[in-house]
Amino acid sequence: MFDTLTKAPGDKILALMGEYAADSRTDKIDLGVGVYKDEQGITPIMTSVKKAEQRIFAAAKTKTYLGIAGNKGYGAAVLDLALGDSVDRSRVRVAQAPGGTGSLWVLMQLIHRAKPGATVWVSDPTWPNHNPIAENSGLQVKTYPYFDAETRGVKFEQMLATLDGLGKDDVVLLHGCCHNPTGANLSDAQWDQVAASLARTGALPFIDLAYLGFGDGLLEDAYGTRKVVSSVPEALVAFSGSKNFQLYRERVGAAILIAKNAAQADVAQSQLLNIIRGAYSQPPDHGAEIIRVILEDPELRAEWETELNAMRARMIGLRQKLSDAIRQRSNSKDFDFIAAHRGMFSLLGLPNSVVEHLKATNGVYMIGDSRINVAGIPEERVGDLADALLAAIK
Ligand code: LMR
Repeated sequence: MFDTLTKAPGDKILALMGEYAADSRTDKIDLGVGVYKDEQGITPIMTSVKKAEQRIFAAAKTKTYLGIAGNKGYGAAVLDLALGDSVDRSRVRVAQAPGGTGSLWVLMQLIHRAKPGATVWVSDPTWPNHNPIAENSGLQVKTYPYFDAETRGVKFEQMLATLDGLGKDDVVLLHGCCHNPTGANLSDAQWDQVAASLARTGALPFIDLAYLGFGDGLLEDAYGTRKVVSSVPEALVAFSGSKNFQLYRERVGAAILIAKNAAQADVAQSQLLNIIRGAYSQPPDHGAEIIRVILEDPELRAEWETELNAMRARMIGLRQKLSDAIRQRSNSKDFDFIAAHRGMFSLLGLPNSVVEHLKATNGVYMIGDSRINVAGIPEERVGDLADALLAAIK
C-alpha cells in the first residue's frame, strides 16, 4: 500500500523547532515557533491555569463523554470573550475544537459542504498552515495583497480593492489581530472599511482569532472581529486558547458560526457537528475546562488577565528595545517597524540567505521568510541580536 507514497514536505515552523533543539551551541537564540517565553526563556504554565487545574482535579467525578460540541460552559465563555454583545446570540453557534487549527479545519469542511470548491482568499503572506487546511478540505486558495515590503505595514488600498471585487462565492480569511507572520495589523478605521466591503459584496468573512490579548488588549484586539460580525449576515470565527491561556499542547479552540437567523444557525450547526462526529467524534476536555473555570470565576479571571497583560507588556517592551538597539547602532529608522508591529511576530523582510547566515553564524533561529517571535528575544542579549542582524545585512 505505502509503495505509492512519496515523502511529504515537512512543516517549516515545526521543522525549525527540531533543528533548534539539535543545535548544541549554548548561546543560540530561538525566534522561531510562536510560543511565548518569559525572562528565563521558558514557557511557563500560567498561575491562573494551575489554580484552575487544582480545582478541576479536586471536583472531578467522571470522565464520561461531553458530547460533540464539547464543553458547553467553555463555548459560552469563549463567545463572551470573542464576540461580546456584538451579535444576537440566537444567530450564533459554537463547537469546541482541538486548537485553532482544529477549529479552522472543521469550519473549512463546513464551507466545502455549503459551497464545494469555494475560494478562500488569504492574506499575502499568511500562516503557512492556512493553505493546506483549505486545500485538504477541497477548497481553492487565492491571495489578497497585505504586507507592504517597503513600509512593513499593510498595503491597505490594494487589499481593499481586491476585497471589493469579491462576491458571494468567496471566503475571506482575516487575522482577527496580531497578524501571523507579519505583525502588521489593520487600524480600527481600516477594519470598519473591511467590514463595509464584506457587507457590500456578500463575501463570507472567516476570522482566525489565535492571539486575542497579545496585541493591544482583550477588547482592543476583538475590535475587528466584533465589527465584522456585527456588519454581515454570516461569518465564521476560529478561536484558539493556545497562546492567551498558554495551553498549546492541550489543543483547545472553538469553531464559531454566525448565520442569518436561528433556523439557519441550527442547520449549519447540525452539519458542523456531523463533520466533527465523522472526524474525531468529540474534542478533548481538559483545556476547555480550564478556560471555563477561569472565565467563569471573577477572581481567577482577573488573575489571568493580569498575567496576560504582563505577557503583552513584555512583548511590546522587547519590540521597543530591539528597535532602539538597532537604531542606536545603525543610526537608521529601517527597523523602527518592529516597535510599531503588534502580537508575537514581526516579518523582518530579509532574504532567506540572510536568515540562513544568522542561523549558521550566530545561532539565531527565525522562520525562513524572516519572521521573528519577539517573545523569544532574551532581554540581556538584545544588543547581540542587533549586532548580528546588522552584520548579516551589510
Ligand atoms: C506559529 O505560527 O509559530 C504557531 O502558530 C505554531 C504553529 O502551529 O505553527
